Amino acid sequence: MREKPVDALTLEDAAEELAALAGEIAHHDNLYYQNDAPEIDDAAYDALRQRNLAIEARFPELQRADTPSQTVGAGVSEKFGKITHSVPMLSLDNAFSDEDVADFARRVRRFLKLSDDAPLAITAEPKIDGLSLSLRYEKGKLVSAATRGDGSVGEDVTANARVVDDIPHALTGDAPDIFEVRGEVYMSHADFAALNAGRTEAGLPLFANPRNAAAGSLRQLDPAVTRARPLRFFAYAWGEASAVPGQTQSEVVEAIGRFGFPVNDLMRRFDTIEGLIGHYHHIELIRAELGYDIDGVVYKVDSLALQKRLGFVSRFPRWAIAHKFAAEKAMTVLRAIEIQVGRTGALTPVAKLDPVTVGGVVVSNATLHNEDYIKGIGQGGAILREGRDIRVGDTVIVQRAGDVIPQVLDIVAERRPADAEPFAFPTTCPACGSHAVREDGEVVTRCTGGLICPAQAVERLRHFVSRNALDIEGLGDKQVEFFFEQTDPSLRIASPADIFTLEKRQASSLTRLENFDGFGARSVKNLFDAINARRRPSFSRFLYALGIRHVGETNARRLARHYLRFDDLRAAAEAAEPPVERKDRGNEEWQALNAVDGIGAIVAGAVVEFFHEAHNREAVDALLREVRPEEEIPPVADTASPVSGRTIVFTGALERMSRHEAKAMAEEFGAKSVDSVSRKTDLVVAGPGAGSKLKKAQELGIEVIDEDAWFKLIGR
Ligand code: IVH
Repeated sequence: MREKPVDALTLEDAAEELAALAGEIAHHDNLYYQNDAPEIDDAAYDALRQRNLAIEARFPELQRADTPSQTVGAGVSEKFGKITHSVPMLSLDNAFSDEDVADFARRVRRFLKLSDDAPLAITAEPKIDGLSLSLRYEKGKLVSAATRGDGSVGEDVTANARVVDDIPHALTGDAPDIFEVRGEVYMSHADFAALNAGRTEAGLPLFANPRNAAAGSLRQLDPAVTRARPLRFFAYAWGEASAVPGQTQSEVVEAIGRFGFPVNDLMRRFDTIEGLIGHYHHIELIRAELGYDIDGVVYKVDSLALQKRLGFVSRFPRWAIAHKFAAEKAMTVLRAIEIQVGRTGALTPVAKLDPVTVGGVVVSNATLHNEDYIKGIGQGGAILREGRDIRVGDTVIVQRAGDVIPQVLDIVAERRPADAEPFAFPTTCPACGSHAVREDGEVVTRCTGGLICPAQAVERLRHFVSRNALDIEGLGDKQVEFFFEQTDPSLRIASPADIFTLEKRQASSLTRLENFDGFGARSVKNLFDAINARRRPSFSRFLYALGIRHVGETNARRLARHYLRFDDLRAAAEAAEPPVERKDRGNEEWQALNAVDGIGAIVAGAVVEFFHEAHNREAVDALLREVRPEEEIPPVADTASPVSGRTIVFTGALERMSRHEAKAMAEEFGAKSVDSVSRKTDLVVAGPGAGSKLKKAQELGIEVIDEDAWFKLIGR
């Protein structure tokens, strides 16, 4: 999967790989930093990190809370000097509901022994999603700037703060002798987008969101880099002050504005909880139009005298609280619905959105799950969104929760353009043009062009050569990917037939396989020998190798045993016409296919679907020019076998055969092999370590034998 170009990853692939990379990189960090015992070299480690960055750049919405891109090894802060805050920089307690806010006000009143109707003014202002900074002014001049760090000691970023336009070098007006202004460094949406656009052009890794961009830009060793980044600043608090310019929070913030700082114009003062909550909802409503990220609303007791009395609990002031926005949702416009084809052929609709920040991350892709979801139908036919469907052009609500792939939740009906059309789910695969089908009772639509579909190719090829399929030694996962990625026509393997023409194509080529890393003259010869040894596979292996949906080994064996020759099965499947309507029974070939022992309509349908797809027929034809499946030998007459017609369970460790082989053998002798013991079981073959199945067999009085007895029984 790693070798798949980032551009070719689907949303699901990307989420899966980011999760794996987070774990792997943490593992290597641990080995390197804690154990001093790295398992991989620096280049391989860097490659993992680069890959993580590249995937995050393409899918910023998938950035994980534990992403390695935000943990920059050990001791970044070492590169900056340290500044001890003269007044600690505190954090805020969180409220998540109106009830939490009412509790906060009650706590404040109780602490201050204020009655329920005594006046209590509280301010409300946006909680800016950036990084906090403390700016120290002495005699009106900026002398130092520090990040929050751990609250007591921060990093010295003075030189960088000086190149941020919003931060004055000298305060205007009658500022106190010593005054520390505190606030948030952030980046606007527009500046963030422009910065990333420039980085795309320069081939640099992208920032996942404005907060990361702001933090990365401020914490630069070279202030020239910071200067080139459009950082902004909002002041909302203060630290040490030789004199405090006001009696209330709002007065001091106003004064800070007069000193030359940008202050947020959405700060208001209220006397009631209802007022606070009303403002919270107002801010939430206009959130998307603010042009910068906020993640909630901060409430602060306005009176500084009361703030002083209230004081702190651990790292939080008792006089303030952050009311966080609920589930991370945002509104944007759905521009297109793209269909991605997964490795197993599932067609997933993905919403292409006008980029929107959802909980601090820019989202431009979101999943639409499947055809029904778009229509407003949920699991088991449940009605979603009161039945509203989703159309291109709709204004949609997007939700992102933690590491989960963002999804389109709902639409805003009033904003639907008059010409918006219901989405027509494709009936062909966008990756290969093959027919795409949705089986009865399924929600997923799948591509039927398994053998030729580029989205599924690698997975299909891997299956084709795997142990229980054609079992080609020397063609492991890595090699399959290697051959698939080659552009030279003498090397590329894109479909099963290509495996068997490789040697011929190489014979007349100047691009020699033996010159590639990992191949030598000997291994190339071994590979060709292994391939040639599989030109006469058994019918059932061959059929299984084709990777037809629902045709696993057992069904492949059932079909092979019934039709005996691959060509006969194929002819039957091509001629079969499944019922179109319910009352209809399908044609004779269809009924015959359904009548094969153990084969029902679902499997039969998948087989027919496969052979009705022209692309598959071509791929099979190409393959049959190279490979000839053996004719199946009719099973030994049932009565001749002592186990025929009996139901057998294999359990415990088998020493002379794999579980797999055991089942095949049982079937060969006309028995049925199942996985669990029940009253219907006739015989249990138990190896060492057999547990609950053996116990159950004994309880039910079922005959139990060991492996040797089994071989004796079938006469081998
Ligand atoms: S007041 C003693 N006001 O949120 C209280 N903080 O989660 C000091 N923040 O560390 C903070 N906007 O970085 C305050 N309007 C605002 C804020 C704000 C953003 C940040 C700040 C703080 C964090 C706490």
